Amino acid sequence: MGNSKRIGVLTSGGDCSGLNAAIRAVTCCAKNIYGWEVLGICRATLGLLQQPPEVIRLTEATVDNWLTMGGTMLGTTNKGNPFAFPMEDGTRKDRSQEIIDAYHGLNLDALIGIGGDGSLAILRKLAQQGNINFIGIPKTIDNDVSITERSIGFESAVNIATEAIDRLHFTAASHNRVMIVEVMGRDAGHIALNAGIAGGAHVILVPEIPYDLQSVCDFICDRQQHGRRHTLVVVSEAVCTDAGETLQKELQFGEHRLGGIGQYLADTVATKTGSETRVTVLGHIQRGGIASPMDRLLGSAFGVAAVDLIAEGKFDRMVTWQNGQVSSVPITEAIATYRAVDPAGTLAKTARGLGICLGDRQATTPDNLTSEPKEPQLQGVS
Ligand code: F6P
Repeated sequence: MGNSKRIGVLTSGGDCSGLNAAIRAVTCCAKNIYGWEVLGICRATLGLLQQPPEVIRLTEATVDNWLTMGGTMLGTTNKGNPFAFPMEDGTRKDRSQEIIDAYHGLNLDALIGIGGDGSLAILRKLAQQGNINFIGIPKTIDNDVSITERSIGFESAVNIATEAIDRLHFTAASHNRVMIVEVMGRDAGHIALNAGIAGGAHVILVPEIPYDLQSVCDFICDRQQHGRRHTLVVVSEAVCTDAGETLQKELQFGEHRLGGIGQYLADTVATKTGSETRVTVLGHIQRGGIASPMDRLLGSAFGVAAVDLIAEGKFDRMVTWQNGQVSSVPITEAIATYRAVDPAGTLAKTARGLGICLGDRQATTPDNLTSEPKEPQLQGVS
């Protein structure tokens, strides 16, 4: 590669807040510091399957106001795996070579892919097969990409979920209800645990910590007996039922969409405890909106670091956030495992220390809690 380069950037997988900050940083750093040309590839690898490829020339003027914007201005998909591309006739086809040819047809010197673990694994496979100089940037509200402590989008999702819990406390308290909030996160309980603690939830259920339904019900009844008439339960979408079943909707091509554990808990808790229950499923609201300051910072830092790696000729790496610093690791290391909640880690310990029920068999409400000072006494008010 000579000094003047043309690089591509794309976003892949589910959108989240902070993606546009990263695209902006890639563009500004590549142009300002290195004088390179930047092409934004639209709709993840789908853009490279179009004839001609669907790309946008990115300049500082184009990305000028992208810092705070939610979603991704380049578009994305979480369905078009090019190695098993879903065709209209219901079959799957390997279209990887078309993407590789399009990349080289655009005379790109390197590609930056902003994605979660699934997208990064696919993009790396393409890069290996097609001799593509690839750098990954981790993003996902689930925060489950290993090694990096933070992925773009997580903090914004936690903020949204925390704000929702804050709001739900008041209505739950006013009606003496058990309020159940179902949050996203796929197999990882990071959103539930972080937002649950920050929002003052009373029960937090995550997939990594098996729960005992009777213990949860006993905890709720115990609270009620101590005058704490409302209970806020946060549950991750991949938490199983008491019978060990994951609740999900089966989709085309063997895909599935998680959802339903909140309603299951509401029904079961109502039956077992006699409490009035309600469910709020936060859903895609956790993915949208203006990026939090941390996600803007993270996206900016990752974007700059990814461009610097290209300048140094270091490829097949993913940028990371470790101990408050941006660093990088081989992508293979990052996608080898996923980052789950540590059942004995700081946040789980914090939750237990606060008296939050994580569903453990021995969960208790401290005996000295006899009243709930903030609990409004509004029984009978409609
Ligand atoms: O991986 C991000 C995520 O938001 C998960 O938390 C959630 O299960 C899933 O994507 C939802 O995907 P979709 O946008 O296809 O409904």
